[in-house]
Amino acid sequence: MKAKVKARNIYALMRYLQAPVCHAFRSLGLPLTIRFVNYLITWKCNSRCMMCNIWKKGWSAQKELQIDEIENLFTDPLLSKLEWIQLSGGEPFLRKDIAEIVCILLKLHPKLTIYISTNGMLPDAIDSFLIETREYHDRITVGISVDAIGSLHDFIRGIPGAFQRVMETMEVLRKYPNININVSMTVMPINYKAFPHVRRFAREYGASFGFQIAQVSTYFSNIEKIGNIVFHPLSFKDAVKLILKALDLHKLKPSARFDLKAKLYYSIARRNQIIPCFSGFHSFALDPEGNIFPCLPWIGYSEGFGNIRENALKEIWKSNQANRIREKIAKGSCPGCWLECEIARSLDKSWPLLMREILCSKGSLQKMP
Ligand SMILES: C[S@@+](CC[C@H](N)C(=O)[O-])C[C@H]1O[C@@H](n2cnc3c(N)ncnc32)[C@H](O)[C@@H]1O
Ligand code: SF4
Ligand code: SF4
Repeated sequence: MKAKVKARNIYALMRYLQAPVCHAFRSLGLPLTIRFVNYLITWKCNSRCMMCNIWKKGWSAQKELQIDEIENLFTDPLLSKLEWIQLSGGEPFLRKDIAEIVCILLKLHPKLTIYISTNGMLPDAIDSFLIETREYHDRITVGISVDAIGSLHDFIRGIPGAFQRVMETMEVLRKYPNININVSMTVMPINYKAFPHVRRFAREYGASFGFQIAQVSTYFSNIEKIGNIVFHPLSFKDAVKLILKALDLHKLKPSARFDLKAKLYYSIARRNQIIPCFSGFHSFALDPEGNIFPCLPWIGYSEGFGNIRENALKEIWKSNQANRIREKIAKGSCPGCWLECEIARSLDKSWPLLMREILCSKGSLQKMP
């Protein structure tokens, strides 16, 4: 155990030391080693959420990547240093071959861990998945979205009985001691008061807990209906108070503290990049039909890097088109976000900010860069 912690610390230190080189590459619009992928395995969805319109994309006319195409892509040497993949969507457990996909990815990449983001509406499918992937459980996290307890969750998700199904899924997950469980809440004006309750719910099931403030983006297809999901500054103050009270702030590492502050700050300031973002440099987003984008918020926002059905990953990743987009990102021109699975992954390359966080005890939320 001690050796594991030591190895992790050495690795983190190496990352910090490499940061200046990464920044130099970024300023030239040049790619780095790919370490993270956000893969949307389907656009299909069985919910009707108020903060996300992906469910409106419809079930037909999709040509999702098939197993042989997925295997082919992830065998590419450019992906040999992959550390983390998020499988999301749509609702990923609507894909019947999700267990096969996960087993292929984990077999191909021995150091890889996978996070699956799900609405928890399909307990039986999740049970079958857990049986089929049993040998890999310690490298898989199932992230269940819980936005409130009981009927408010149903209302937000637009499905009567949705919360009941989440509870059934939690009971299924309980049967498998090695699987990692995370409860993830999307915070909005309608549900922020439920924050401490969802936090407690996670604890009761022995799950870790994370949250995001609802964002507006072409990925969530919600640009045109921001009214009821975006905070008014006054109610946001109230929400921040409640959130900070419910979290064990004194237990947070400096990086987690910075992440928390940036997340809250972004919701009010909506600046494009609070820190220099390396999405598109050390990571990419892949949509169900093989289109590659620098990050999730780029989907539907503007043209992406290319499509793996038309060109090999190597050509796409090193193409002029990809470098042009990276130059834009390096200049701060992007849709903007603070998503855990995207810009927050760039935090270890912003170590002067982290140093400041270590030195200034607790720092105030207003003091963002
Ligand atoms: C788009 S969903 C896809 C996975 C799955 N369907 C689910 O709901 O968990 C991925 C995550 O984004 C969250 N989400 C949905 N709408 C959002 C928004 N407008 N801003 C931020 N996060 C959002 C969901 O709650 C979920 O945790
Ligand atoms: S948040 Fe998830 S479940 Fe809800 S509409 Fe979007 S993709 Fe579907
Ligand atoms: S800040 Fe967000 S939107 Fe902008 S490049 Fe990074 S991940 Fe994409």
